[in-house]
Amino acid sequence: MSEAKEPSASRRAFLTTGVAAAALVPATARAKDDPAITGLPSWTTTPGEGVDARPYGTPSQYEKHVVRRNVEWLTASPVSSVNFTPLHELDGIITPNGLCFERHHAGIAEVDPGQYRLMINGLVDSQLVFTLEDLLRFPRQNHVYFLECAANGGMEWRGAQLNGCQFTHGMIHNVMYTGVKLSLLLKEAGVKTSAKWLLAEGADASGMTRSIPMEKALDDCLVAFKMNGEALRPEQGYPVRLVVPGWEGNMWVKWLRRLELGDKPWHHREETSKYTDLLESGVARRFTWEMDAKSVITSPSPQAPIKHGSGPTVLTGLAWSGRGTIPRVDVTLDGGKNWVRARIDGPSLSKSMHRFYYEFKWNGEPLLLQSRAHDSTGYVQPTKDELREVRGKNSIYHNNSIQTWHVSEKGVVENVEIS
Ligand code: MTE
Ligand code: CO
Repeated sequence: MSEAKEPSASRRAFLTTGVAAAALVPATARAKDDPAITGLPSWTTTPGEGVDARPYGTPSQYEKHVVRRNVEWLTASPVSSVNFTPLHELDGIITPNGLCFERHHAGIAEVDPGQYRLMINGLVDSQLVFTLEDLLRFPRQNHVYFLECAANGGMEWRGAQLNGCQFTHGMIHNVMYTGVKLSLLLKEAGVKTSAKWLLAEGADASGMTRSIPMEKALDDCLVAFKMNGEALRPEQGYPVRLVVPGWEGNMWVKWLRRLELGDKPWHHREETSKYTDLLESGVARRFTWEMDAKSVITSPSPQAPIKHGSGPTVLTGLAWSGRGTIPRVDVTLDGGKNWVRARIDGPSLSKSMHRFYYEFKWNGEPLLLQSRAHDSTGYVQPTKDELREVRGKNSIYHNNSIQTWHVSEKGVVENVEIS
């Protein structure tokens, strides 16, 4: 892979970033004869709805297309399925609650908070059962974390397939959680020294259970009841879910009802037949918990084509790592021949999404867009070929390879693969 460096003089016209302030973007609208400026639309002449019209706010009627979507052929039944976050429509780093992708194995459990209980049992000094009210009396913390399903990008292992970053990368959301540190609750119960593992169990009909090593449980896990300031949505595990920062989404048990401490992993379904990686040798790699650094350009992308023609263009995307922050993202417009450094904007938080931008003047020629994340451990996001060399082609989960978008002269964008 070539090093990220400033483009050579001959390529400057193609990759200009430093546009003069006065002419950053040419104004397209003109006052004279433009009814949008000379006219009086109804919203200017007539008062609108009152404060009683929208007790719980929803987006503008003109934003109806910004929704979670699914891929019909992916699963047989919607109660054991997935829908995807519309990443191409979002900006900043926070995913709005109503747009967080959903993955459930037995539909959405509608848990009555009055009947909610969280039990801690197994290798503890005293078994405990908490009500929701009990949990609200412990000291709280707030943290922004991404949750990525291990299957994100799973359909792309063998070749470019789905046309849109919503579908190739949308099994992720990034939310501020409010909750109680798991270690605090475990200490209340008194962890026996023989306890090395924790089993987290959900209250939904899927019987979701995952084994989590004690070091992680005592480190940064949260028992969360709020997302972006309000109660968790039913889709996300109302009233309480487990937050396992940086680790694969499957472990973030929703509708959390029980925590059992034991001396070995349980080897349940979700950590044996699922969420393991079948290598070329026939050996299946288990317990791939940490999500490796990854990034994607969200615009331009297949669902967000360039409609304005050549000239000033904003490229933007997301980068994240389960191991820390993202100090650097490189982007290329020519399929990896030349890399330039993108501008990271907004909060840079550990195990959270980062927003990057690259402003350039498009000359109207076809582009091959890619982004490459570097995380705070020094790890660099691999190409698809590099990842396949290590992992083979049998995998479904844990695909963190570099994504390529082809932009045509017309600004149409497609998911492609280059080697
Ligand atoms: N927890 C329970 N109880 N039931 C589930 O089906 N799905 C898991 C995990 N926790 C699941 C669960 C999977 S595979 C993922 S990727 C995340 O929840 C998805 O979280 P989300 O629906 O908030 O996006
Ligand atoms: Co998942």
